[in-house]
Amino acid sequence: LTARLTIDPHFTVGTVQRRLFGGFVEHLGRHVYDGIYEPGHPTADADGFRADVIELVRELGVSTIRYPGGNFVSGFRWEDSVGPRAERPRRLDLAWHSTETNEVGLHEFDAWLQKVGSDLMLAVNLGTRGTSEALDLLEYANIPAGTARAEERKRNGRTEPFAVEMWCLGNEMDGPWQLGHRSADDYGKLAARTARAMRMLDPRVKLVVCGSSSAHMPTFGEWERTVLTHTYDDVDFISCHAYYEEHDGDLASFLASAVDMDRFIETVVATADHVGAVRGSSKKIDISFDEWNVWYSSRFENVDKIEGIDEWPVAPRLLEDVYSVADAVVFGNLMISLLKHADRVTSASLAQLVNVIAPIMTEPSGPAWRQTTFFPFALTSRLAQGSALELKLDAPEYDSARYGSVPLVDAVATHDASTGTGAVFLVNRSTEEPVTVAVDIASLGAVTLRESHTLADTDVYAKNTLSAPERVAPRSNDSVRIIEGELTVTLPPVSWTALGLD
Ligand code: AHR
Repeated sequence: LTARLTIDPHFTVGTVQRRLFGGFVEHLGRHVYDGIYEPGHPTADADGFRADVIELVRELGVSTIRYPGGNFVSGFRWEDSVGPRAERPRRLDLAWHSTETNEVGLHEFDAWLQKVGSDLMLAVNLGTRGTSEALDLLEYANIPAGTARAEERKRNGRTEPFAVEMWCLGNEMDGPWQLGHRSADDYGKLAARTARAMRMLDPRVKLVVCGSSSAHMPTFGEWERTVLTHTYDDVDFISCHAYYEEHDGDLASFLASAVDMDRFIETVVATADHVGAVRGSSKKIDISFDEWNVWYSSRFENVDKIEGIDEWPVAPRLLEDVYSVADAVVFGNLMISLLKHADRVTSASLAQLVNVIAPIMTEPSGPAWRQTTFFPFALTSRLAQGSALELKLDAPEYDSARYGSVPLVDAVATHDASTGTGAVFLVNRSTEEPVTVAVDIASLGAVTLRESHTLADTDVYAKNTLSAPERVAPRSNDSVRIIEGELTVTLPPVSWTALGLD
């Protein structure tokens, strides 16, 4: 099988924002406790953070990290998580039926962010709380000095403000499972009030209003239209959330998941632009794709869920999906989809980071290791620089039960005019056949291949586990040739590839 691709650095989609390579840390399961924070661990630093995890997060290349939830934030009292540790209350976390000890809170998390080199993105609770508490947190985080909350922060050991720029106005408020779930109209009004008040306090903040929890919610589309009608002038982003999994052994459809993500993004952009058109506004609302991943959520619903009045564990094993090569190929394709829409998707957060549907796994007192999904994230984050390019792609198609006829190959390229470097990211969705792709790179001038990485395996369900943590890793792709302005590369079946060009 063959496919053709044309790359031209003049056809830019948009600048690749570093914020596209964000992550997400929720107080959920063993993410914070026994994940990033384990004071008894042999690698723990003076603050109790695992140095092996810090090293892996740095290697992953994560820009902004959304915190502290997720569903967790809709019942969270931020005041519980600051001040002397010994006085912090233990609370029930209703979202995940767990106990939150508040041992790690805003100050500790920010200290960890300094170590991993990432920025903080905060979510406020618009589930059980409202505008006033959001203002309190914003004052605590961003006002330099001289007010009750700013002075409280200083007493708690932090002289300089946290200066948080990105703020989420609640989480998944369209979901019936969400504490404080509301109609689009009710949420839209609350979000608008809160956004206006937050901007009065600090006009520098960038605000993300909740879009739908998935493109398959019954209120999808109408939710976005209603919420943006209330908030258009007061927010910068609308969120998208999407998780994909293989259903009933239908690998062919699963491999086409990014087709769904493409449609999701394009529909939300169209809806946002419709609201703008009705208002006669020249302002554009961008997308913050602030939860995306492969997640076998049916496993959580059917196996892992905790219930019972006397059952509120601390840091239980929850959502600890173990990812295969096929999962990583889909994951890499989701990143291609984000890059293809770099003009309007200008912020994104991989959900999540450690142990909980995560690229990094840990064992208490034991090792930390890279899941298969670690590799496409780390490589895309490192190689995608400059502008995302619009490609001309001709590829054979195949029939998928979920998404109809879809291309066997998907791809995106980036080009950094300041350094003259480029990158191409490709997937082969065929479960059987390799595909040789001929890439017209004549308009890039003289180009050499700096590096190539292909993730594939004869067993597409191979995984990295505690007993075999390095079973899967990308290898260089020896098929790449560059002859007279044409690059050819052969993509094995069910594979993800990244090429770095000089
Ligand atoms: O990432 C896991 C959960 O998925 C988040 O808490 C929630 O926002 C979403 O439903």
